Amino acid sequence: MPVVVVVGAQWGDEGKGAMVDTLAEDADIVVRFQGGANAGHTVIYKGKPVALHLIPSGITHEHTVCVIGNGVVVDPKALLDEIESLSSLGISITPERLKISDRAHLTLPYHRMLDAAREMAGSRLRLGTTRRGVGPTYVDKVDRVGIRVGDLKFPERLEAKLRINWEHKQAFFNALPPDERPDFNAVLDELLRYADLLQPYITDTVTWLNEQANAGKRILLEGAQGTGLDVDFGTYPFVTSSNTTAGGACTGSGLPPTKITSVLGIAKAYTTRVGEGPFPTELHGEEQVKLREKGREYGATTGRPRRCGWFDAVLVRYAATVNGCTALALTKLDVLSGYPEVKICVAYRWRGETLTTFPAESFVLEEVEPIYETLPGWDEPLSECRSWEKLPANAQRFVMRLQELVGVPIATVSVGPERSCVLMKPDAPSIW
Ligand code: IMP
Repeated sequence: MPVVVVVGAQWGDEGKGAMVDTLAEDADIVVRFQGGANAGHTVIYKGKPVALHLIPSGITHEHTVCVIGNGVVVDPKALLDEIESLSSLGISITPERLKISDRAHLTLPYHRMLDAAREMAGSRLRLGTTRRGVGPTYVDKVDRVGIRVGDLKFPERLEAKLRINWEHKQAFFNALPPDERPDFNAVLDELLRYADLLQPYITDTVTWLNEQANAGKRILLEGAQGTGLDVDFGTYPFVTSSNTTAGGACTGSGLPPTKITSVLGIAKAYTTRVGEGPFPTELHGEEQVKLREKGREYGATTGRPRRCGWFDAVLVRYAATVNGCTALALTKLDVLSGYPEVKICVAYRWRGETLTTFPAESFVLEEVEPIYETLPGWDEPLSECRSWEKLPANAQRFVMRLQELVGVPIATVSVGPERSCVLMKPDAPSIW
C-alpha cells in the first residue's frame, strides 16, 4: 500500500511536476493537496511542454485517477479552462479520471481582486504573489465564511452562502470606484453555471481515497510550491498561504499520517525563487542572468523571471527535516555544466556567528552571508547521459557532497525535462 508524498525542498519550481509525471507511470492515483491556481507544474506530453495549475501532474497517464484534495483552493474558471485546454490536446478528462473534493474551497473573482489590491496598496507588505486569489481564499476558509466545492451540489443554498461571504468584503467593495465593484447577481449566476459544469466531478474524496488506500492502490500526493514557502515553516511573511510540507499532505487529502509510506523531497541542483523574500545564495547581475538563461528560469504561471543562486544546503537540510524526507530527487543537474567551479552554501554567517540551521526570522536571512564550499565543475553536457555511471566524475562528486550535507539519500538525478532523463542512483532507496 505505497502512499508517497512529493514535496518541494526549496522555494517551489524544483521540478515536482516532471517528477510526479515520471512516478505516475507506476501510480494508480495522484492527489494535489494544497495551493491553487498559483502553481505551475510543467510536464512533457507528446514532446511538448504542458503547464498544469490545478489538475495533478498524473493526468497525462491514461490509467491514473487524479484528485483535487480538500486542502486545495479551486478557482472554477481556471479549472474549467484547464480542462478545456487539456481536452484539446487529446487528454481525456472524465469524472472517472478527475475527482474534486467536496471540502475544497472556491476562489471567486473577487478573491483575485483582493489579492491584486493588497499587492498594489503601497502601505502594505508587498509579497510578490501570483495574484491568483489564493491567499484571500484561505483567509475566508480560516475565517469560516468560505464557499466550498460541495456547496455547488446544493444550488438552492448558494445565494445565502455567497451573501455571507460577500458581506465580509463590503468594506473592500465600497472602497472601489462604483464601476469596478463586482455585481452580486453576476457572481451568483457565474457560481450557478460552475455548479452545473463541475457537478459530476464533486466527490467525497476523503472517504474515496481512504478506501483506495485500504484496497492497496498506489497513491502519489503531489505538493505545490516548496518548503521555503510553507506558511508555518517558510520565510514568513514571504510565503504562500498553505502548508506545502508533508503534514499538509495529510490535512489536505484526508489520508492520515499512518498511511504515508515515504516522502520524496525535490530539489534543484541550484536554487530559484519567485516573488519577494530573503534568498541567501541569490546571485546578482550577469551571474544571475547567466544561470537564469541556462536553466530557462521563468515562471510557468506568471512568466516572471525567477531569481537564481547556488544550492543552499542549510535550506534543503531543514526541508528534509520538517518533511521527514526518506529520499531526495535532484533536478536540473545538466544546467550546471560549463561552470569551472560549482558552489554549495554549507552554513550562514550572521553578526559574527555561524548558523547551521534555518532561522525563523526573515530579517536574519536577509542579513546572513552564505558560507560556500567550492567544488570543481564539469564541462560535458549531461542531457544525453542515461545512467548515473555516465555522469562526469565531478558531477557525481557534487551530488554525493549534497547528499552528505543534506543527510538524506539522493534517489534520482535529472539531466533534462524528458522522463528518460531521470537517472536512478545505484544505491538509491526505492521511492515506491
Ligand atoms: P501566492 O501563493 O500567489 O499567494 O504567492 C505567495 C508567494 O509564493 C509569492 O512569492 C509567489 O511568487 C510564491 N509562489 C506561489 N506559487 C508558486 C509556485 O508555484 N512556484 C514558485 N513560487 C510560487
